[in-house]
Amino acid sequence: MIENIGVIGAGQMGSGIAQVCVLAGYNVFLSDVSPEALQKSLLHIDRDIERQVARNKVLAKEKEEALSRLHSFSGYEGFKKCQLVIEAVTENENIKESIFKELIPFLDSKCLLASNTSSISITALGRATDRPDKFMGMHFMNPVPVMQLVELIRGIATSNTTFNFIQEVVKRLGKQSAVSEDYPGFIVNRVLMPMINEAVYALFESVGTIESIDKAMRLGANHPMGPLELADLIGLDTCVSIMDVLYEGRGESKYKPCPLMVKYVEAGWLGRKAGRGFYDYKGEQPVSTR
Ligand SMILES: NC(=O)c1ccc[n+]([C@@H]2O[C@H](COP(=O)([O-])OP(=O)(O)OC[C@H]3O[C@@H](n4cnc5c(N)ncnc54)[C@H](O)[C@@H]3O)[C@@H](O)[C@H]2O)c1
Repeated sequence: MIENIGVIGAGQMGSGIAQVCVLAGYNVFLSDVSPEALQKSLLHIDRDIERQVARNKVLAKEKEEALSRLHSFSGYEGFKKCQLVIEAVTENENIKESIFKELIPFLDSKCLLASNTSSISITALGRATDRPDKFMGMHFMNPVPVMQLVELIRGIATSNTTFNFIQEVVKRLGKQSAVSEDYPGFIVNRVLMPMINEAVYALFESVGTIESIDKAMRLGANHPMGPLELADLIGLDTCVSIMDVLYEGRGESKYKPCPLMVKYVEAGWLGRKAGRGFYDYKGEQPVSTR
C-alpha cells in the first residue's frame, strides 16, 4: 500500500505532482537542490490550492489538511519512509542518473521509483538504479492539477507488480493513464514536440509572426493553446532536450531542434518560468516578442 510519496525536483512539474498527491491524501516528501526553488514551490502550491478553495472545488479544511501532509527539505534523508519516489528534475540523463545513485542508499529496499521524464529511456534510467524491476515512467502533463493524463511507460525490466501499484496511484489521483512503450518521446512528445519544433521553424523562416502562428493553430486546428504559447509553458530548455533525445534516438534530420529555439535557450529565454520566451510575461498580459 502506498501512503508516502517522495518527489525530487520542486520545479513546475514536481510542485504540481506534490500538490495533486497531497490533495489525494498521500503524505508527500518534496526535495530540491535549490532552497529558492523549494520556497517558490511551497508558495505556488499554497496559492493554487487557495484558488481551488475560491472556486469551491476544495474545502478550506481540506486545504489545511493537505498542506499538513506536505514536507519539504533538501537532500535525501526525508525519503526513508516512502513507498514511491517520483523524480521530476531537469530533463538531462546525466543529472537524473547521478540523483538515483545518491538517492538509493536512503531508500527502503521495497520502495518503487518513477521518473517524470518527457523523453529519456526508462530502461536506461532504470539500469542506473539497483531496482530496474521497481522502476518505470510516470509522465504527468503540465499543468499537473489541470491535465487528466499520466502516460505510463514500462522499462524492459519493469515488473507487473510495479506497473499495477503505480496505475492504482494514478487512479487515486483521479487521473487517466495511457500506456506507451519505451521509445524516444513515448507517445505524447513523439507527436507533440515535432509540431512545436515546426512552429518555431515557421517563425524562424518568417512564415508568420508569433501571434499569427498561435492564432492559426488555435482557431484553424482547434488547439486550446498555440504551439509557441505551449512551448513557453513547457519550457524551451525542456523542448530542446526532448528534440535532442528524439534526434539521437531516431537519427532523422526532421527531429533536429530549430536553431532559433536553441538560441532562445542560450539567451536564458526559457519561457514562462524565466519571465520571457516567445512571449514576455513581465506585465499583466503576455506580449509577443517577434
Ligand atoms: N515542463 C513540462 O511541460 C513537462 C511536462 C511533463 C514532464 N516534464 C518533465 O519533468 C521534469 C522536470 O521538468 P520541469 O518543467 O518541472 O523543470 P523545472 O526546470 O521547472 O524544474 C526542475 C527542478 O529540478 C531541480 N533540480 C535540478 N537538479 C537537481 C538535483 N540534483 N537535485 C534535486 N533537484 C534538482 C531544479 O532546482 C528545478 O527546481 C523533466 O524531466 C521534464 O522533461 C516536463
